Amino acid sequence: MHKKTIPYFILLSLFVMLSCTSEKQDSSTGVMDRFIDDLMNQMTLEEKIGQLTLYTSDMDHTGPFIRDHYLEDIRAGRVGAIFNAYTADYTRELQRMAVEETRLGIPLLFGYDVIHGHRTIFPIPLGETASWDMEAIEESARIAAREATAEGLHWTFSPMVDVTRDPRWGRIAESSGEDPFLTAQVARAKVRGYQGDDLRDLHTMLATAKHFAAYGAPQAGRDYHTVDMSELVLRNKFLPPFKAIIEEDIATFMTAFNDLFGVPATGSEYLLTQVLREEWGFEGFVVTDYTSINEMVPHGFARDDKHAGELAINAGVDMDMQGAVYNDYLAELVEEGKVSEATIDQAVRRILLMKYKLGLFEDPYRYSDPQREAELVMTEENLEFARDFSRKSIVLLKNDDNVLPLSDDVRSIALIGPMADNQRDLIGSWSAAGDYTKSVTLRQGIINRQGERTRINYALGTTVLDEDRSGFAAALRAAAQSDVVIMALGEHYWQSGEAASRSMIDLPGLQEELFDEIVKLGKPVIVVLMKGRPLTLENLDEKASAILETWFLGTTTGDAIADVLFGDYNPSGKLPVTYPRNVGQIPIFYNARNTGRPKSEGKFTSKYLDVSNSPLYPFGYGLSYTTFDYSDIRLSTTQMPINGTLEASVTVTNTGDRFGEEVVQLYTRQLVGSITRPLMELRGFEKITLDPGESREVTFELTWKDLAFYNANNQFRAEPGEFHLFIGTSSAEVKQTAFSLME
Ligand code: BGC
Repeated sequence: MHKKTIPYFILLSLFVMLSCTSEKQDSSTGVMDRFIDDLMNQMTLEEKIGQLTLYTSDMDHTGPFIRDHYLEDIRAGRVGAIFNAYTADYTRELQRMAVEETRLGIPLLFGYDVIHGHRTIFPIPLGETASWDMEAIEESARIAAREATAEGLHWTFSPMVDVTRDPRWGRIAESSGEDPFLTAQVARAKVRGYQGDDLRDLHTMLATAKHFAAYGAPQAGRDYHTVDMSELVLRNKFLPPFKAIIEEDIATFMTAFNDLFGVPATGSEYLLTQVLREEWGFEGFVVTDYTSINEMVPHGFARDDKHAGELAINAGVDMDMQGAVYNDYLAELVEEGKVSEATIDQAVRRILLMKYKLGLFEDPYRYSDPQREAELVMTEENLEFARDFSRKSIVLLKNDDNVLPLSDDVRSIALIGPMADNQRDLIGSWSAAGDYTKSVTLRQGIINRQGERTRINYALGTTVLDEDRSGFAAALRAAAQSDVVIMALGEHYWQSGEAASRSMIDLPGLQEELFDEIVKLGKPVIVVLMKGRPLTLENLDEKASAILETWFLGTTTGDAIADVLFGDYNPSGKLPVTYPRNVGQIPIFYNARNTGRPKSEGKFTSKYLDVSNSPLYPFGYGLSYTTFDYSDIRLSTTQMPINGTLEASVTVTNTGDRFGEEVVQLYTRQLVGSITRPLMELRGFEKITLDPGESREVTFELTWKDLAFYNANNQFRAEPGEFHLFIGTSSAEVKQTAFSLME
């Protein structure tokens, strides 16, 4: 037991006054460092270890167990951060315990999974990436931070920047898909949105790069499974987004559950010290994933929890999420000389610095403000933005005979399927404090748009999972009585996300059977898909008149889809991930390398006997209600000096009769390299708007960095030689030219 002293935040004012500053909490490095030094000089080892500990409250459950005495832990100073606790009142109460009941009164840090919105829910990350609209993505993160900080939160466990090529893995829903460049751009935008320019600003919060590293490549798509890959693939495909957001000054990193090269990521000195600190110079703090220190025991890497704790802290883990290992064993490990006090001090310092930067030592309650909470959460403007962002995320996969958009005057629509009048699933997985009862169903969205003008013949038809055909007859009747059929099909929200891998990725239950029956009536059938991953859709693609990929779009789903169905918004989304024809093609991704036998006809070539090599829908694909023409590519030079630049331009023309947006994509291929190089790699994109008949020149500037990669010696180099350069509307439909990179 320690003697109670004045809470530390009160001491801060005194300290700062003595430092002769005019501001209450000076963020200049000297003052901040002296403040932290002074604080740390007064801390016992136990108090320091408390700062390295993060526990969940019981307000939300995001992992296997809850420590039921976490309130006691707060009061005893055994915990420095809490997650899964929000609302101004609740965080204020927990903060009061830390500030008023512990010896030094060091404020708590409150973290939460604010992944795609806090209260106003935006599209799931895979969906928001499909917008390819970095400004909108940044704004969505800014709004999420504004809502979350008003409810007392300081720290989001987002963005997840795990590149993934496996739609069986449920967490593909939380990812930006298969491409490292696109993932990095999205991640940068999100970090800018969450953190802003100044962490002290009341509307900004700490962001987290997770899960470090390669969590998106589990064997056979099964969550938490082993990851094995060459270091070349790791560095060229899986690490770039992590590296990119260090340039955005991301505050924290989270380790991954998986092992990599036979070492659990949470105990990986290679990842956490060599790459993250020494090579990349990361200065924030590293938190584990949920109990991932303890999980090094079943992994077979640590003998017991104590050993796991030793491995984790020495590898570079600063904060233990929920495992209680640091709390239980670090003091003992220090006594035994297995962990140095300097290591503990370094971790504590990193965490206290973040608390300082947030302004918590000046006023620990500054984020927990009921009035701001009432004013800033789920405002009209937030919902309006959400609707626009959601419709930008929709991808038009098919549109035979321009069946879409529907005319305002359509007399009757059969609206069929388990997602048609479904609120529960719309906000997707990891929807934080989102309230699904506030979300707009597709049925409601169509009614909001059409009012009395159109008769809606609604029929559930079947549920997502049950093997029950009793609703088929009513669905067929509804279809027979209507001019057009909209079928809203998909997965439950819990069928993607964490611990939600599927070995088959077809439409669950009897949905496809119902679709087949309805199609036989010969009416135009428009399929609206809601789900967290690519599914195998060959049959739908063959028979439906139109298909809209709508992911899970969040709170304003129904209105956003209605905007697209009736042409108030012309779809502009593009796929951030390849859609396989069947599960056997997985992993299938556009930036693959060539084989020595690349032709797909004839014997002894690299192909399947039972399915083509091509995907159903390629990366970057998505249709519009208008058409775009691409000119040939113009290059500023065909001989690019290695220290110079290359400009590549195209003119894009809207050749249809509607306003539209197009994502112009630039890819390159290095023909011969010191290691084999991908067939294509995304190196740039720009989303443009065009009126009917309007043309626009789009110019990309490349430097050697855009052509570089990690070679067999782990050096980031561009290699002189021949390149192809492609610009187009998807990875499969491009104009092509060539240039040389000169010594
Ligand atoms: C997930 C993390 C998440 C954490 C806290 C874990 O199970 O893997 O992504 O941030 O829980 O909720």
